[in-house]
This record gives sequence, structure tokens and C-alpha cells, in this order.
Amino acid sequence: MMLTRPLKVALLGCGVVGSEVARIMTTHGDDHAARIGAPVELAGVAVRRPSKVRAGIPQELITTDATALVKRGDIDVVIEVIGGIEPARTLITTAFEHGASVVSANKALLAEDGATLYAAAERHGRDLYFEAAVAGAIPLIRPLRESSPGNKVNRVLGIVNGTTNFILDRMDSSGAGYTEALDEATALGYAEADPTADVEGFDAAAKAAILAGIAFHTRVRLDDVHREGLTEVTAADMASARRMGCTVKLLAICERAADGRSVTARVHPAMIPLSHPLASVREAYNAVFVESEAAGQLMFYGPGAGGAPTASAVLGDLVAVCRNKLAGATGPGESAYTQLPVSPMGEVVTRYHISLDVADKPGVLAQVATVFAEHGVSIDTVRQQGRQDSSGEASLVVVTHRAPDAALQGTVEALRSLDTVRGVASIMRVEGE
Ligand code: HSE
Repeated sequence: MMLTRPLKVALLGCGVVGSEVARIMTTHGDDHAARIGAPVELAGVAVRRPSKVRAGIPQELITTDATALVKRGDIDVVIEVIGGIEPARTLITTAFEHGASVVSANKALLAEDGATLYAAAERHGRDLYFEAAVAGAIPLIRPLRESSPGNKVNRVLGIVNGTTNFILDRMDSSGAGYTEALDEATALGYAEADPTADVEGFDAAAKAAILAGIAFHTRVRLDDVHREGLTEVTAADMASARRMGCTVKLLAICERAADGRSVTARVHPAMIPLSHPLASVREAYNAVFVESEAAGQLMFYGPGAGGAPTASAVLGDLVAVCRNKLAGATGPGESAYTQLPVSPMGEVVTRYHISLDVADKPGVLAQVATVFAEHGVSIDTVRQQGRQDSSGEASLVVVTHRAPDAALQGTVEALRSLDTVRGVASIMRVEGE
């Protein structure tokens, strides 16, 4: 049954994503009304630059006073696509106080202070939905929040940053170095003028914190996530990965410990076998692999960024929140009942690929092997190649069995102090086996 009163939506932010949200709300308004059971009306759009021409948005809806907009009292849903911590956090909590539910794409805020937002939503009996905060268009948050609660998730392994996947894909396919691949990503509009958030792994770490919290029903904040970007990945690492039948991806990995008593969350470049489904994720696509007890392995794949794909996730949430509103219900709130602590990176157990420059003389291999043994790190394979020059050096590539990260770091420190080890060319974790 169609209600006559339209549901009113306030849009905070009208950039790449916000303008697409407004456009699709207009062009698909009839569909949305039919799916919701009531028309949805854009009641106000808060922007920083009101003079900018925004096709399809009536000028009278534009305001620079976002606070007044969320305080109006007649707004049913606030869509927040401005990003950052403040003023977004205050605007969202104010929206709840004034009776609105919130749809947000703000990964940084959710990773930094999701608990405050959840608490405000619960206090006021409103919804907080944020599908667009992780992996753009890919339906992932709602499957984890609403389809998996009966299941026990043990691991989430994913490529959640399109810019860095584009860079690594280019390095892999063309042999380009990091800087060259970044320049191409910038020229094509994938990387921003300041690419720090993407290439240093901050964006992926925020997404990992959100995914870990939802998957393991515990609180995980950005500071809990171990983070390494991809700026140190070299063409030589790529070539080495290829020789092992692997490629390099920037992975977000959230795991439940084997004893079930803690979780870890980390973002770093890692080698994964070419046979792993994540290895075939090309260009700026995202994909997330979820491993759980009953369902086994699930993979979610699609565009992880861009105006229209991200807007599609926002609009999916808008329809769900509007339906809840008409039903007088709310969707799921925070689920943090397990209260599992987040362990430090030193306790993560994985495999390593270590590339050393060593003196090419008798006994060096034995010396290096002894250092690994002394730290309890078991070697899987060793490949040595003498240099065809007068340096008297060789490259030694060691791949280990699974070992705690702290043991590996201790091994590398001890290796660096050996006279015969001239340098540690690279250390990379090996995942997905
Ligand atoms: N900058 C992100 C990416 C998209 O490259 O995937 C927004 O999270």
C-alpha cells in the first residue's frame, strides 16, 4: 500500500558520490517508491560551495547549514557522504537526536568511533547503515550483518582498495616500478593528487577495522589494525612472486585466533598464489573472501570505488532504512558481545618470503639457516643465485613455513647483524595457501 506522505531525505555532501545519489534518487524515484511503499523526497542538500551548478538539484534545496538541516525534525533519513571525522560525527549524532536514521559512507569515522554512532542510533531507536563504507558497490556489510549471524566467521581476506590494486596489477602485468604505476593510476583518475590514504594503507585499514568488528562481533578500531602500505613493493618483488607462482596484492586480513580467544586485523602487501581467486582480481576492482564454519568460503567481487557504484550501495541502504521506518522497526545495531581482544601483529602466524643479499662464500648458507633455527622459524625453500659480476655477492631467497610475526622480526634483526648479510632486500608475507 502506498502511503501518501513522502519520506524526507537530507543529503550531506554533494561530491562524486553525493551527486550520483541525488541523480539516481531522481531518475529511479518511482522504482524506489514502489519498493519502499512510499515516495522518497530529497528535502535538502548540504554543501560547502553553494554557487557550484549541480544539474538536477533544485537550487532551493541547497544549503551550507548542515546542522540546521539535520535539526529540522521532519527529516526521515540523513545520508552522510562528506567523510572525515568532524563535522560528520556531530552531524550524525545530531541527526539521530532529531529523529532521523542515517546512511553513511564514512569508513574513517566508523573505524575511528563507530561505537559512538551505534550508541546514538540505539539510544534514539534509529538505523545506522553503512554498506558504502567498505568495498563500494559490493554488498558485503549487510550480508555479514544480516545473513551471517548464524554462522561463525573465522577469516576475512580481501582486496578493499581499488587504487592500490590498480597499481599492483600494472606492476605485475607490465613490469613497471611503483612510481611509474602510481603515475599511471593518477593520470587515469584512480589515484588522488595526494595518494597517501590509499598507498599507505589507511583506507584499507579503516575498512579492515569495520569488517573485523562485524565479522567477529567485537570492537575493532583503526588503531588496532596493523598497517603497511605498498610504497616499498618493487619490480623485483613482483618478479620474485612470479617465480614462486604468486602475485602481490595489498590485502586486508582479519582473523580469529586458532584458540578462538582473540582476533587480529592487518593490512599489508602479500604474495598470494596465482591459483587463489583473489589473484585474478584486476585493475581497480575489489574482492573479499570470507571463510566461515558452516558456509565455507564465500567471495564478494565488484567495483569498490567510483561515484555510481558507491551511490548504488548508499541507495540500497536508503531503501532498507525507509522500509524499516514504515514498518516501525529498526535493522541490526552494534553486535560486539564477544568482546574478543585484538592481538598485536607479533602474534600473527603466517609464511614469509625473505630476500637477502649475502657474501657468496662457504658457510654463509649454514650461518643464515642457523639464525632462522635459533628463532624457531622453519625454512620451507631456499633459492640462491650468484651474481654474474665481481661483487662476490649472491641473492638468497628464503621462504618459511608458518611462524609468528615476532619470531620473523627477530630473525631479520639477527640476520642484519651478520657480516655476511649485506642487506635485506625485501620481506613479504605469503598468504592464501
Ligand atoms: N580510494 C578508495 C579506493 C575508494 O581506491 O578503493 C574509497 O574507499
